[in-house]
Amino acid sequence: MQIINKKDIPNTLTVKIEKLSNLGLGIAKVDGYVIFIPNSCPGDVVRVKITKKNKKFANAEIIEIVEPSAHRVEPICKMQKVCGSCQLQFIDYKAQLLYKKEIVSDTMRSIYGSDVEVRDVIPSPEVMEYRHKIQYPIGQTKESKRILAGYYKIGSHELVNIKHCPIQPEYCDRIIDFIRENAQELNISGYDENSGRGDLRHVVIRSSYANKKNLVVLVANADRVSEKLKKLSHSIYSQLENIQGVGVNLNHKKTNLILGEKTYILEGDGYIEENLCDKTFKIAPKTFFQVNPASANNIFRYVKKYITDNFSEPTILDAYAGITAFGICMSDIASKVVSIEEVKESVELAKQIIDENRITNIELHQGDAGKFFSEQSLLGRQFHLTILDPPRKGCSINSLDYALKLTKDKIIYVSCNPATLARDLKYLKEKGAEVEYIQPFDMFPHTYHIENVAIINLSEVCKSM
Ligand SMILES: C[S@@+](CC[C@H](N)C(=O)[O-])C[C@H]1O[C@@H](n2cnc3c(N)ncnc32)[C@H](O)[C@@H]1O
Repeated sequence: MQIINKKDIPNTLTVKIEKLSNLGLGIAKVDGYVIFIPNSCPGDVVRVKITKKNKKFANAEIIEIVEPSAHRVEPICKMQKVCGSCQLQFIDYKAQLLYKKEIVSDTMRSIYGSDVEVRDVIPSPEVMEYRHKIQYPIGQTKESKRILAGYYKIGSHELVNIKHCPIQPEYCDRIIDFIRENAQELNISGYDENSGRGDLRHVVIRSSYANKKNLVVLVANADRVSEKLKKLSHSIYSQLENIQGVGVNLNHKKTNLILGEKTYILEGDGYIEENLCDKTFKIAPKTFFQVNPASANNIFRYVKKYITDNFSEPTILDAYAGITAFGICMSDIASKVVSIEEVKESVELAKQIIDENRITNIELHQGDAGKFFSEQSLLGRQFHLTILDPPRKGCSINSLDYALKLTKDKIIYVSCNPATLARDLKYLKEKGAEVEYIQPFDMFPHTYHIENVAIINLSEVCKSM
């Protein structure tokens, strides 16, 4: 059957899943017309119902699995289909890694424009209880006003009360349960997004992989810390084990941002500790830190080995540095590290970590990376290599241009978004840089997300452009 028009697609049909999209949806094709199907696995033969038709593609949902793929497994979590956070949990882990590699290769082909060597994905050392940053929205039931804590149902703002999440440290279930019960007793209400009313909006937990201690932050819909939340903070700290500290963050604005500007630490410490490359790091409520510390450690060790094998005591620019995790890990193989990060709290914490680890060869800067690059370029400064680790949106053209000017030999580009990585690599290639290879790491098992480290070689051509 030759499909010319979307109208030709019947409302129900049987298809075979060919591959996964970059968002983890199964892709089936009918004469070139693409159908995206959630919760399906390459190799599945499924009967589907079309839910939306567009000019070039349709969305559909499974009515029946006619023939399951050999890679289907029972999801570890009962809430997998409802919650939507672990899109790939019903696929065996080895196959997840193969599909993620394919997603990176496909993205490179379609955006970067040509084949680039994508290596096998380095698995996460932990595939359960790996996620060490937990952010639960808090609500309440309409009638009984029971406190709800969990995640939103796929594509909605309906809160799913989650009692157990297998990708988070089990102890966090106990903390959340304690908050549910005690908030109720203290007459603390859950937040209602529509009316903007209610006391408690979110609970954020930073949980240490290294020593199992937890920093709990209660996000209040208020402009000051209430007595009720002070009492709840005290109960959490005094009655639960493994609590490093408890704080209240104030956020009464109508915003999608979880944390407001100010956090008051009411009990214990305002950070947890984590170990990477034999260094001890401190992580505060707002600091960026990879959610999977075990897999992050793999990345830091990998980059360190690559630098050791290719350089002798290089100068390193660590850009989009967060708490300067790369710079600090690389400090003992570098002659000098210079870092740039825009969040003040992260730079202050980096200063503390550097002092506590007795590191003397790191120069910290706070501000916008692009602006800092242009200032350094005016000063005629250069580095043997630059580590770029920008947020999901990638780097600006301006930053890429200056990164080329500032770097003598190599750029190591770390990215959690294959699409923006491919776009930025394409730009660098047009400027004469050469992508040596891409090494993916699985930082987020059971989800479609994938972290990549791209090794980029610079030639004289780059600097003259
Ligand atoms: C993906 S995180 C990487 C952090 C760090 N390299 C690590 O591995 O922990 C990106 C960081 O870039 C920072 N950032 C975002 N935009 C920035 C900008 N324009 N200039 C400087 N830093 C920025 C964020 O605050 C965040 O800490």
